[in-house]
Amino acid sequence: MILANTGQYEPNCLVINESHHIRVTVLCYDRAQRDSFIKNQSRMAYAQLIAMKLPIGSGAVESTVRRVVNLRLKGPSLFWCRARAEAILLVRSYYKAGRWNNVETYGDFTPCSAGSLTGKMGTRLVQTMLKAADVAMNRIPTLRRGFNRVFYNYLSRLDRGGNVILMNYGYADLDPQAAVMPMEAQDEPDRLCLQLYHRVAGSLDLQGKDVLEVGSGRGGGASYVKRALGPASVTGVDYSIEAVRFCQEHHKLDGLRYVHGDAEDLPFEEGSFDAVYNIESSHCYGNMRTFLGEVHQVLRPGGQFSWADFRTPVEMEGLRGIIREVGFEILRDELITPQVKASMARQQSRNQALIQKLVPRFAHGVFRNFAGVEGTLVYDRFASGERQYMHLVMRKRVS
Ligand SMILES: C[S@@+](CC[C@H](N)C(=O)[O-])C[C@H]1O[C@@H](n2cnc3c(N)ncnc32)[C@H](O)[C@@H]1O
Repeated sequence: MILANTGQYEPNCLVINESHHIRVTVLCYDRAQRDSFIKNQSRMAYAQLIAMKLPIGSGAVESTVRRVVNLRLKGPSLFWCRARAEAILLVRSYYKAGRWNNVETYGDFTPCSAGSLTGKMGTRLVQTMLKAADVAMNRIPTLRRGFNRVFYNYLSRLDRGGNVILMNYGYADLDPQAAVMPMEAQDEPDRLCLQLYHRVAGSLDLQGKDVLEVGSGRGGGASYVKRALGPASVTGVDYSIEAVRFCQEHHKLDGLRYVHGDAEDLPFEEGSFDAVYNIESSHCYGNMRTFLGEVHQVLRPGGQFSWADFRTPVEMEGLRGIIREVGFEILRDELITPQVKASMARQQSRNQALIQKLVPRFAHGVFRNFAGVEGTLVYDRFASGERQYMHLVMRKRVS
């Protein structure tokens, strides 16, 4: 990066050019400051530094050099690509030093996606950070709840157009001879996600029943259940207010409603529903016992609950114990990881395309992981068996 006198006298203005495509114009506090930079050029051996293509200037700029060195040696805290790191740090250091009251930038200063940091290194970095975040969220349930609330609200804001109305990993039958599930044309793009709904909600007899979906997300699943499985009513509840608003505007059907509420404090009277289902949402909750207690309470006696989500085998053992203690009997307990993995593999290109279209570059790494794209932490955990995708059907015991 080269600090250059523009040649013409522009009051309070210095232009800092990178030899290639980045250009930064810095407005100094005042003319005296600008003059002082220019006057001190000899003290700083600028000519030599310019020849070496290193940043030059006084205080703040030297601190940029240190920052770049620190960044390179200690690892970046943000996913900046190398080509932009110096420029971004330089601008930041101006702010930090409080030496300029105005900074104008030209060129592309947006942070790069992790992938472009330096290929594999960037991806590894994101995975390491996500792993650390995952450990922290497992230890601190309030952190998990808080993060997920922010994340799902953000996701809803990114997609006001309704490109994404389902957010699960889907279900693909492994038997190539298996009959293809009939589906309305409007549902075809979301076939795999809806097949998971069909497997989970469809394992309950919902004909003429009052049904609750906890964690209804962007609402495509509840809409499908209402249209395809014949319940009298379907209520979707979700604690992302943005998602609920989206659903209320996007999915309008008689007998279908979306309500804002928390799985761990359901906003319904005791015994309001005949059946409840919950798909790929409970891993976000703070306390499974509280959630199961809430489901138990809103179910009518003998009512059924169908649940699907991922857990480690050890977590599953604990969960089965809690389910029984809360007052459910387990009617079905099946591992569906292979079918979910097969679906994830088939959704790769669609998910990648959606991320490209909707998500700002700096968040690509997080969203690729969320979508379970190949090579991410989520994908690897299913592949290694560290995480299992389970489906359980339970009945509220009649005492
Ligand atoms: C991965 S999405 C799945 C959504 C939907 N079941 C589907 O398959 O498309 C998880 C959803 O759970 C919701 N969620 C997370 N924690 C919740 C809570 N405590 N109460 C209600 N909803 C919650 C999120 O807002 C998000 O919409």
